[in-house]
Amino acid sequence: AATPLVDQFARRISYLRLSVIDRCDLRCSYCMPERMTFLPKAEVLSLEELHKLALGFIARGITKLRLTGGEPLVRRDMIELVRALGRKLGDGLEELTLTTNGTQLAGLAGDLFEAGVRRINVSLDTRDRETFARLTRRDMLPQVLEGIEAARAAGLKVKLNTVALKGVNEAEIPDLMHWAHDKGMELTLIEVMPLGEVEEDRFDHYLPLSTVRESLEQRFTLAPSGHRTGGPARYFDVEQTGGRLGLITPLTNNFCDGCNRIRVTATGQLFACLGGREQVDLRAALRSDQPEANLAAAIDEAMRIKPLRHSFAIDRPGAEPALPRHMSMTGG
Ligand code: GTP
Ligand code: 5AD
Ligand code: SF4
Repeated sequence: AATPLVDQFARRISYLRLSVIDRCDLRCSYCMPERMTFLPKAEVLSLEELHKLALGFIARGITKLRLTGGEPLVRRDMIELVRALGRKLGDGLEELTLTTNGTQLAGLAGDLFEAGVRRINVSLDTRDRETFARLTRRDMLPQVLEGIEAARAAGLKVKLNTVALKGVNEAEIPDLMHWAHDKGMELTLIEVMPLGEVEEDRFDHYLPLSTVRESLEQRFTLAPSGHRTGGPARYFDVEQTGGRLGLITPLTNNFCDGCNRIRVTATGQLFACLGGREQVDLRAALRSDQPEANLAAAIDEAMRIKPLRHSFAIDRPGAEPALPRHMSMTGG
């Protein structure tokens, strides 16, 4: 059997985030500019190549696979890839999941469930239609809410991801949490990260989750929970709602020592860390004359170059020399 994946800091790597497309039908202003430059389509891996890649990782001990983008569900025939990967569930793969903005969910939720997906994360920063339209530059809140309902009706467990933004959704966070918990959905808050140039200084909206937590604790009792998903969130049980709140705090409370993940872009570039520059070309390996051996060697190389932690900084104006890649490229 192949050797399991362990990096130079003895971290066991079992979680792959695979971006299937860098394109998106929204334009969240902290994520990308309105006129975003996307990857040339010719450079993007085919669905067959993405499938092969994922199988190569499953053979090396990846047990949790998350499909991301951009927006994964805007990729044509995406459900075929999900179905193919779903067949590996129980055969090496323990969890197949997806992070989506929800715009296409209404039409696809049932198919996702049938393919073996049981849990999805949906990005939702606001329930206010005008705020949503301003933030995402698209008036698509109704589709997203419809998508969330469709997912729940199809039997998918839905977790909401909310980037906490000063002056945008800060005041709405308690209400969002209440709404989510009333429907039996978890809510995870995220600190904005300096990934790729956008048309704003992210510092203007940067909201440390330490601040949000203090203000929530004026009204709610947050008890640290032992719950783990294998992701970066730390969880709290909220006494008053009976729901769970996750906090993802790359800036205020580093979680890299427990890192178990790597990410691959839609062009087959493996990034050993979301906030790192270290990169390995899996596409070249995949398209070589000895794809299996070269892919395995490339994955081993990634284990050697995975850094101890990211070095994001965003805590003062102009602090962010953003990384040259957007989140939509590495899928978070
Ligand atoms: P669960 O399986 O539900 O725990 O999902 P997850 O939190 O691993 O995945 P999701 O796609 O919902 O990611 C939520 C946020 O966490 C995104 O903004 C990601 O960019 C961020 N995130 C995931 N992994 C990392 C990481 O290794 N480092 C940093 N800094 N952020 C990460
Ligand atoms: N910082 C933090 N989160 C981001 N996302 C996109 N760009 C950024 C950024 N620069 C979030 C999306 C989604 C998740 C996958 O990543 O809102 O919830
Ligand atoms: Fe699209 Fe997600 Fe970026 Fe928003 S955050 S523009 S939904 S990739």
